[in-house]
Amino acid sequence: MSSSSFSQLSHPYLSLALDAAQKSGAILRDSFRKKVNVQTKSLANFVSDVDLQSERLLGELIGESYPSHEILGEEGVHAAKESDDLWVVDPLDGTSNYLHGLPQFAVSIAYVEKGCHQLGVVYNPIAEDWFVAVKGQGAWYNGCQMKVSSETALSDTMVAVGFYYDRGRMMEATLSAIADFFRQHVHGVRRFGAASLDLAQVARGDYGLFMEYKLHAWDHAAGGLMVQEAGGAITDCLNVKLPLRGPSSILASNGLLHAPALEIASLHFKSVKPS
Ligand code: IPD
Ligand code: CA
Ligand code: CA
Repeated sequence: MSSSSFSQLSHPYLSLALDAAQKSGAILRDSFRKKVNVQTKSLANFVSDVDLQSERLLGELIGESYPSHEILGEEGVHAAKESDDLWVVDPLDGTSNYLHGLPQFAVSIAYVEKGCHQLGVVYNPIAEDWFVAVKGQGAWYNGCQMKVSSETALSDTMVAVGFYYDRGRMMEATLSAIADFFRQHVHGVRRFGAASLDLAQVARGDYGLFMEYKLHAWDHAAGGLMVQEAGGAITDCLNVKLPLRGPSSILASNGLLHAPALEIASLHFKSVKPS
């Protein structure tokens, strides 16, 4: 599978997004399981030279073609500007996995026009997994159209969760929600450590739902479009539309499980919600 396998999709910026993901992904792959420089951003939250190189390259590639476009990246290496044409990029989603030699990580790129998500690419360069969505044209995995799962009861589904870099009340609240999912007899709860891939896998139907109490736009912009284009739903944990830029909680589901999942997600989120 290669980035050229999405000929059924059409968007003026699709080939740029695929090319940028492929080239940044190559940077990640080349340094994987090698010694890299790492800095600590906060407790258990790291940034490596590889994150920075990948984000710089994404910025260069997008900027060469469209110098007026704005880029919102996790590591903030791009000059601040405002534009109706916004690229939201996570140059390495799953940094902790990466630094521990675990091959679950991705480059995540979304293009947002006047506040509407138009394009999403999530690329795992180790598995060579490509997840691509174009607004109105569906969500695709390695050339096959994705559809969310069809289960209607929590007792028939597999759940994915994430933990933000917080070892206090947010962590406790997430653990309480996990316990409640188990009390509903879900098939299992998985935490693989790369939100963009978790969302892409909701789109592919692997998980009936994904929940995390704090994520940023670069974590969910591309994967969130995939969930919607595959027929699912994505909101925050109080059922409110996600903000374009700021941090937010996330509940993504096949749509059918959104209400029962929301009951659990919102109950515990209320104890940590910023007022
Ligand atoms: C993280 C991953 C992880 C999620 C964290 C994110 P990063 O992104 O997506 O799964 O639980 O909240 O910050 O820091 O590896 O890009
Ligand atoms: Ca991330
Ligand atoms: Ca990142």
